[in-house]
This record gives sequence, structure tokens and C-alpha cells, in this order.
Amino acid sequence: MNRKPIGIFDSGIGGLTVVKEIEKRLPFEDIVYFGDTARVPYGSKSDKIVKTFSLQNSLFLLKFDVKMIVVACNTASAVALDYLKRLFKIPITGVIEPGVISALNKTKIKKIGVIGTYATINKNAYGIHLKEKDKTSKVFSVACPLFVPLAEENLVEDEFVDLIVKKYLAQLKYKDIDTLILGCTHYPILKKPIKKYVDNKVELVDSAEETAKEVERILSENGIKNDKNTKGRTDFFVSDIPHHFKDMGNRFLGREIETVIPVHPDESDSYFI
Ligand code: DGL
Repeated sequence: MNRKPIGIFDSGIGGLTVVKEIEKRLPFEDIVYFGDTARVPYGSKSDKIVKTFSLQNSLFLLKFDVKMIVVACNTASAVALDYLKRLFKIPITGVIEPGVISALNKTKIKKIGVIGTYATINKNAYGIHLKEKDKTSKVFSVACPLFVPLAEENLVEDEFVDLIVKKYLAQLKYKDIDTLILGCTHYPILKKPIKKYVDNKVELVDSAEETAKEVERILSENGIKNDKNTKGRTDFFVSDIPHHFKDMGNRFLGREIETVIPVHPDESDSYFI
């Protein structure tokens, strides 16, 4: 069991920020990553579709006999995590719970902002988990849909980015938050303009790091941590190779992606039903 790979999926390339942290923390693990680049974004889609896509992505990963699945997408975690956990026996974790734990460790005044896609914010997944863990916490959520294309285009320094950041985050400015959860895989790329706009004392939470810790905890608890001591390999699969994929991917992953394998519908019986 412990020599099996970890399966990770996202709606596209954003989940590579999670792969980066898992590779750093668990260098001996093999990873199979699937990015649903043909059907991204999930953030503006209905629950029904996000659940269907998440199920198909999980079935694809299970073909590699993965020992656990990481839902490295905030939208899919918010909408489909419980559904997937009910369907499969192997451990499955998302990115929301780790982000919540990290935010509660950081906040001093228990006023926490959350930004994410429409689907994540409408589901109030962060709000529910934060309240569950600490009833006294106050949560303020805002959907920031334009942040995803900005991050993909690497538009970080331009003046109009500051205006877009202001447009969304002005609502949080006077809520006196001291912690802001970046509740979308793409938003860590925009840390700089976000940090510039929010008050200096506001701490940003990037759940990728915390998710890697959670994955390590799950592997250890289940006795399925890889016991070899040679560097693991990561295989990348995508449902489409969009323009600039390599540039974007390298930026999100923080290293060169060597090979990306496109998965076409006719190569997979469970995919694109
Ligand atoms: N991966 C998605 C998330 O973390 C962002 C992109 C999308 O909308 O699919 O919510």
C-alpha cells in the first residue's frame, strides 16, 4: 500500500501549488496529478456539474491505484468532498479544512476574511468549518471571480490589477479582519497586490502548505507513508493542453514540468461521459 502513488486533482493548473508543497514535504512519494484543463473553471458552475466532474476525476486517478486522493481545488472541495468521501474507501482530503486550521492558528481577534470563487463562497464551506471549530469566530466572505484569469495570465504588477483587487476587497477593508484566507488555488499568485491593498497587519492564509501537512498526517496515521528513500516521481495528466500551459504550470509548480500527458475521451472509459 505504501508504495502506491498519491492522486491529486484540480479543475486545472491551480492545484499545482498544492503539488509543490506535497513534493517539498513528502519527497519520497509518487504523485499522479490530473488537471481538468478542458473544463476549467469549476468556480462558476453548478453543484451538480462540479460533483460529476469530481467523480470522473477521482475515477481517473483510481485507475493508477492511488492510496489517497487530494482534492486540490477549493471549489471541488466545497461542493464535492463529502460526496466523494461517501463513495470511496481510501482517504480523501480537500484544501478547506487545512486552510481553516491555519487561519484559526493565525488569527488573534477571530475576524477572518475569505475570498474564493462564486461556488466556494456561495457554499459558505469556509464559514461553516470555521464556525464548527470556533463558534466565536466572525467570517466575512467575498467572491473574486476575476482573480483566476489574472493569475493565469500572470498579471500581478499592472495598475488595473490594483483596481480589481480594490473592487473586491473594499468590502473587507472596514471589517477589521486580521486574517484573510486565499480560498482558491490561483490566489497565492496574487499575494503581492492583495497584500499591498489589505492592512499590513492582515495575515494571508495559503492552504497549500497546510494541506501538505494534512496529507502527511493522514499517511502516517494510516501507516501508508512511502518507506523508500529515493525521490518520488510526479506524473501530470490534463484534459487539454491550453496555450501557455507550460509557462503557467511552471509558475504554479515552482519548477519545470517535464512531461504532460493529455487524456482524451477515447482513452478513458470513465472520462467525459
Ligand atoms: N481551482 C479552482 C478553485 O480553487 C479555481 C479555478 C476554477 O474556478 O476552477 O476554486
